[in-house]
Amino acid sequence: MTDVVVIGTGITKFGELWDKSFRELITEAAIKAIADSGLGGTDIEAIYGGCMASGRFIGQEHIGALIADYLGVNPIPSTRCEAACASGGVALRQGFLAIKSGENDIVAVGGVEKMTEVSTEEAGFALGGAGDQETELFHGATFPSLYALLARCHMHEFGTTEEQMAMVAVKNHANAMHNPNAQFQREISVEKVMNSGYVAEPLKLLDCSPLSDGAAAVILCSKEKARELGLKGVEILASEQASDTLALADRKSLLELNATKIAAQKAYAKAGVKASDIDVVEVHDCFTIAEILAIEDLGFFKKGEGGKAVEQGKTKLGGKLPVNTSGGLKAAGHPVGATGIKQAIEAVEQIRGNCGGRQVKGAKIALTHNVGGSGATAVVSIFKGLIK
Ligand code: COA
Repeated sequence: MTDVVVIGTGITKFGELWDKSFRELITEAAIKAIADSGLGGTDIEAIYGGCMASGRFIGQEHIGALIADYLGVNPIPSTRCEAACASGGVALRQGFLAIKSGENDIVAVGGVEKMTEVSTEEAGFALGGAGDQETELFHGATFPSLYALLARCHMHEFGTTEEQMAMVAVKNHANAMHNPNAQFQREISVEKVMNSGYVAEPLKLLDCSPLSDGAAAVILCSKEKARELGLKGVEILASEQASDTLALADRKSLLELNATKIAAQKAYAKAGVKASDIDVVEVHDCFTIAEILAIEDLGFFKKGEGGKAVEQGKTKLGGKLPVNTSGGLKAAGHPVGATGIKQAIEAVEQIRGNCGGRQVKGAKIALTHNVGGSGATAVVSIFKGLIK
């Protein structure tokens, strides 16, 4: 099977973007990625696009065809991938597999969401559909409350504190100060998080990722084709996916996301690397507790010690393992369909050495972790070095 490299990246600003439509966002990201790759639109053989709930947010479905149409690349196949907040990660994996299988040499993969056209209540309800409609959303359990349950369990079992969760938000807002595309360009303090008011106790406003608009795209290429064309790329060593029960009530444990653990174990095995080999990581911090669960479930810290690791500064820029240098979902923003691709772009740009004030010196191996819902889908991808 052929190896796969990322040869181009493109991203829009994330935020409340009233001046840009859904189709303008994904077209902007894709055109930037194509330009960055040095290729032309006609070189692309297939498209995979991550998008969670465009029908609910803007009344538009059939996103695959829309993207190909607006990019002017008809009649190539263009497919929408939906896995809630992991839609982008799943699209990346589908593009990766299309090249691995030998079916395609050059594939465009994107992700997009426009969430701010509807009220917060409507957005919460649309996002809640990623959980179990019958046992959770129907009874009023939206995502902040599901993650609040996970936070309560972690606090009870391991003594994780609200202050430690607040420190995740403070770190990610500090990182986002160096990311010009981030939604929030403002530093916050633990005190500010603690005073920000409960959304679902113990999670407060500043423990939550925001509602966002935005798009991101990457161009994938087989290693052979990239060499033939004289293009530089960052290799995707592995992209693995796992599933779990939709409903939290059906889980064996609420102290971990098992799909994350399984996807990570498979990705490390395929890539031939260990957790300790990773230089920089983008994890799915839809709520601050989610980052603490992720750094444990991905094997970077022992179960129960994630909160302490954050408190000790181990996940800051300059720490043992910088986590969410982009600002994460918390501060860079979380246009749900685009997040998995934004994470891949951060991994690639860290390895390319293009991250300015948030650059991890000498970053060679990066990992991305994208979660759908409360952990019913997880995608873990590992990126390495530059190939010429
Ligand atoms: N982090 C930091 N600031 C935020 C924020 C967040 N998550 N959400 C909103 N704000 C800020 C806004 O920028 C605004 O600031 P301003 O007054 O200076 O302009 C202020 O807080 C009020 O914003 P508003 O849009 O009225 O907030 P809201 O109450 O409508 O929404 C949440 C807040 C937390 C309910 C919403 O962001 C949310 O639902 N987040 C979770 C999204 C989610 O579940 N994603 C899927 C995860 S699986």
